[in-house]
Amino acid sequence: MDKKLVIANWKMNIPSKGIDHFLKSVIPEMTNLQYVQPGICPPYLFIPQLFELLDNSSILLGAQNLHYEDNGAFTGEISAQLLETYCSLVIIGHSERRHLFHETDEEISKKIQTASHFNLTPILCVGENITERKNNLSSKIVTSQLITGLSKIKKPNKLIIAYEPLWAIGSGNAATPTDIELMVKVIRQVMLEKFGVESQNTVQIIYGGSVSEDNITKIITLPNMDGVLVGNASLDPLQYNNIIKNIETITT
Ligand code: PGA
Repeated sequence: MDKKLVIANWKMNIPSKGIDHFLKSVIPEMTNLQYVQPGICPPYLFIPQLFELLDNSSILLGAQNLHYEDNGAFTGEISAQLLETYCSLVIIGHSERRHLFHETDEEISKKIQTASHFNLTPILCVGENITERKNNLSSKIVTSQLITGLSKIKKPNKLIIAYEPLWAIGSGNAATPTDIELMVKVIRQVMLEKFGVESQNTVQIIYGGSVSEDNITKIITLPNMDGVLVGNASLDPLQYNNIIKNIETITT
């Protein structure tokens, strides 16, 4: 069984008491994890520092975005080539990038292709907004984001799909287990159709959107749930530790 992923997405934040305090509180708790694979996606500036500090720990390091070109005149952007020195994961197509920075599915597909050429496992984020949900379009939207976003990939070595409904992100109200389970099924089916049975080994499906120590048990015990992407709660070392401990206890 693959370990359950618990990926922290710090966004443009740092933990409330600072990175040193966070790591001092978290790293000792991460030894001998049997069922959880933790990861942290900090702001770019902290990636080299975390790379040093996480050395010999079991925590994976990831970026929150990348540019699809290998290098060039792209002020303010960062390439896969630079990231792969430090990171093994990269979040692509997060809803904040799609909506605040107008990233299209076409751009996202190029980013997925680039990450896959390098040694970076993409975490492709998909999810519907509240209007789409109210109009019963969730499955259709997610399917279309997957089809276009993955259009340049023939066979992924490793791929993580994060189902993150927009209305759940940062709201304090996670999607219900029923909603999540349904969408995990939809995503799994699209993966089967696109990449065949092999996708059961190469594609992991995780959930993100107001995950906390209080709701982790219900989410992680859903069938075929491979982990979580955690925003706000991952800035607090106690919560982050508790989420991980809860999973270790349930899976034991
Ligand atoms: P949240 O963010 O846990 O604060 O809802 C999750 C995300 O945006 O990845």
